[in-house]
Amino acid sequence: MPRELSLAEIFQLGYYWETKILLTAVKLDLFSALTGSPRSSAQLAQQLSLTVRPLTLLLNALVAMRVLKKESDTFANTEVAQRYLDKSQKEYVGHLLLLHDAEWENWGQLEDTIRTGQSPVSQHVFETNPELGTNVLSVLHRIGKESGPNLAKRMDLNKAKTLLDVGGGAGTNAIACCQEYPDLMATVFDLPQTLVMTKKVIEQVGLEGRIQTQAGNFHHDAFDKTYDAALMSDILHYQSGETNAKLVAKIYESLSDGGQLVIKDRFLDPSGTSPAWTTAFAVHIMINTEQGQCFTSQTAMTWMSDAGFHDVRELEPCAVIQGTKK
Ligand SMILES: C[S@@+](CC[C@H](N)C(=O)[O-])C[C@H]1O[C@@H](n2cnc3c(N)ncnc32)[C@H](O)[C@@H]1O
Repeated sequence: MPRELSLAEIFQLGYYWETKILLTAVKLDLFSALTGSPRSSAQLAQQLSLTVRPLTLLLNALVAMRVLKKESDTFANTEVAQRYLDKSQKEYVGHLLLLHDAEWENWGQLEDTIRTGQSPVSQHVFETNPELGTNVLSVLHRIGKESGPNLAKRMDLNKAKTLLDVGGGAGTNAIACCQEYPDLMATVFDLPQTLVMTKKVIEQVGLEGRIQTQAGNFHHDAFDKTYDAALMSDILHYQSGETNAKLVAKIYESLSDGGQLVIKDRFLDPSGTSPAWTTAFAVHIMINTEQGQCFTSQTAMTWMSDAGFHDVRELEPCAVIQGTKK
């Protein structure tokens, strides 16, 4: 049994102040403005058309949070802020924090959602704000480049000639798979607005001869041909269980005999209370999609068995499952 929380820790859990201070600083783009030479609060206020008194309080808090440094009356970025939060840097990750800030109002509706069962949104970010969605995907792509090769190795695509990456986003996993398996050809299926960025990423790594894209909505549009393998990575949590079961069955139909479906997602354990991050993410996704949530791996494996897959198993606990078409 984990030890019980102290009262101080309960209070700590209730503080969201620092979160909103950081998100607001990113929204105001303070870190880009502080690039170069340190500035006083008054200088920064003038540069960004802000008000000195509240800005000073915000900057002081950011210093206490160790995101900024302060010397006498001037503020400067710490190394980590300079590297990741200045918009002009190639490693900028602010888009992800801007997404959290954009979802702030939805979190304000949490109580209502739990009372009524109605999410405050009817679509997810990739549909409502494609620009923000693709910016976030490009950050996730940079981060995902670390995990893509591991997933590719785990998938064992030695016998597959073709791979369908359903909702493939920036193409991170399709790229990793093609790099791991030199004879593999892949298709990234995604919304047309997302694929604009996907094509650029594929070109950057020189794989345009082996990875093609198909624009469409995976709920309504048919996949263009039959594939030897399919991947669904971080797709399931955006929809209801019923919709996911249909999607898994649709993918089954698009696989050749012996074809393999691999699903990677943020799955919960059978108790629903672990992994800890995923339990909070489940609430986050519930409030920011119409019917999304996190599911247990067992539930997702049932969708696969019901669709006709055999040898359905968990390759990585609460993360990766796989099944084969007879
Ligand atoms: C969280 S991202 C995952 C991207 C990628 N699979 C990965 O693991 O890096 C979800 C992706 O699903 C796509 N998507 C969401 N709804 C879709 C739909 N109805 N049809 C096609 N793609 C969709 C989004 O555009 C986005 O690229």
